[in-house]
Order: sequence, then structure tokens, then C-alpha cells
Amino acid sequence: MALKIAFGGKGGVGKTTITSLLARCLAAHSDQCVIAIDADPVTNLAAALGFDESTQITPIAELKEFIEERTGAKPGALGTFFSLNPKVDDIPEQFSQEKDGVKLLVMGTIKDGGGGCICPVSSILKALMNHLVLYQDDIVLMDMEAGVEHLGRATSGSMDGLIIVVNPGARSRAAVPQIQKMAIDIGIKKIYILGNRIRDNEDKELIKTSVGELPVIGFIPETEEIINADRDGRRPYEDITTIPEEIKQIVDNIIQLGKG
Ligand SMILES: Nc1ncnc2c1ncn2[C@@H]1O[C@H](COP(=O)(O)OP(=O)(O)OP(=O)(O)O)[C@@H](O)[C@H]1O
Ligand SMILES: [Mg+2]
Repeated sequence: MALKIAFGGKGGVGKTTITSLLARCLAAHSDQCVIAIDADPVTNLAAALGFDESTQITPIAELKEFIEERTGAKPGALGTFFSLNPKVDDIPEQFSQEKDGVKLLVMGTIKDGGGGCICPVSSILKALMNHLVLYQDDIVLMDMEAGVEHLGRATSGSMDGLIIVVNPGARSRAAVPQIQKMAIDIGIKKIYILGNRIRDNEDKELIKTSVGELPVIGFIPETEEIINADRDGRRPYEDITTIPEEIKQIVDNIIQLGKG
């Protein structure tokens, strides 16, 4: 089962929290390798996964010498020739850090002209994503930058599916069609909705009625544990077996997606 899913949504809806919890849960439940990718330039997936602050995780985009060696061009160099399919298969082993069975890769920022621009850094990231998607029988969960304009082709174009995280709040619901359109534009075929910070049935209904035809993969309640963990600067559900049933259900649904 190969399963590569990106998590998108408006700012602060819970993408990072959810990516980390699902990654830990999948690692505990499956004998497959789980890779969590931080594709937000403001990196914080490491903390959500519970990595110690002292753990050095260099973003791939910042491996200047490595990128130059593999692509034949200095990052940032424009108008020069560089390889469009650099060797990347050793990146996961070499540059990821592992905790509780989850391997974390941090992508870093691509400083390019936006759009479909291809530069040495995006060439590496794109090749890496293709490699993870095509050649590795792993579960890959990618935590993305907030908003729609950042659904970068280089990093998210090769994912199997996108889960749009939505809160009951009106602005988070309003962002769904834009994100959906952007995802379709870059070729992501399967799009799901995940309702987060749900307090009651009314919250669920609000979300269901505002996402059109998009299938809902599950709802996660607003929990004291996540709020307290955030306040205390620790990861929520230190003992992953104590996570709410709703999250376990979503893990099962995701595993089913991989089979279907
Ligand atoms: N189910 C939940 N219950 C309670 N608090 C939650 C829940 N999900 C997320 N939060 C809180 O919401 C805040 C934002 O969460 P998180 O950082 O995961 O969102 P994000 O979408 O990754 O944000 P950004 O767009 O800045 O990357 C955090 O304080 C987090 O603890
Ligand atoms: Mg985040």
C-alpha cells in the first residue's frame, strides 16, 4: 500500500497538529514506514511530533552544497543548466530524523519567482517527492503552508490526495473552494475534508453543508489535551493510544484509502 497525502487549509486550522497525530498513529498501527514531510517554510512539525529542540534537522532546500552536487548548479542560479532528475534516493535515509517510527523530512523554503518556476532547489524537491511517491512503499503525510497560493507544484503535485482541514469558522469554510480549485489545477485527483475543532453536531453540519460534494474523511473534536499541550509547549497525547476515537477512525479511513 502506497499512500501519500497532503494536508492543506487556512492558517491555524490544525494542519500541523493533525499531521503529527495521524503520523504517530499510523506508525503505531502499521508495519510500513511513515514519512512526515514539513512543507511549511515556518517549520514546526518537528515540535508537534515531539522531537527534542536539540535535534538538528536541516531543511533540504538549505543543503546548498548537496543541491549543487546533485543538480550541477548553485541554488538561486538562474539561466544556468541543471539536472531535472537529480539523484535523490538517499535523501530520506541521510537527512530525515526518526521518532516513534515516524521519519521527518523538512523541505524548507523555495525562493523562486513563484508559479511554475523551476530552479535547482525545486528540481531537488520535485524529484524527491516523485521518488517518495513512485518508488517507495511508504506512507507519506505532508504538512503544508496555510492558504491556497502555496500549493506548490514542486512539492504537492505528486501526492495521491489532499485533505483540506476545516474548522467550523466561516473563514476557514470559505477557503475550501479556492484550495480545491488550486489542487485540481496542479493535478491532485482526490480531495477530502477533515473537520477539526468540532464541539457539537451543529459544527459538523455547518462543515458538511459548506463543502459541496467533497467527501468528509472525519471530524476531530476540540480537546482540552490539545489546548493544554499547546499551552505547555509539549506534544499532545504523549501516549498515542489515548487519542480520541474519532482520530483512530480517521486513521482507519486513511488506511482504507490506501487499499482502494
Ligand atoms: N482539535 C483541536 N482541539 C484543540 N485545539 C486544537 C485542535 N486542533 C488544533 N488546535 C490548536 O489550534 C492551533 C493551530 O494548530 P496548528 O498549528 O496545528 O494549525 P496549522 O493549520 O498547522 O497552522 P498554520 O497555518 O500556522 O501552520 C494550535 O494552538 C493547536 O493547539
Ligand atoms: Mg502548521
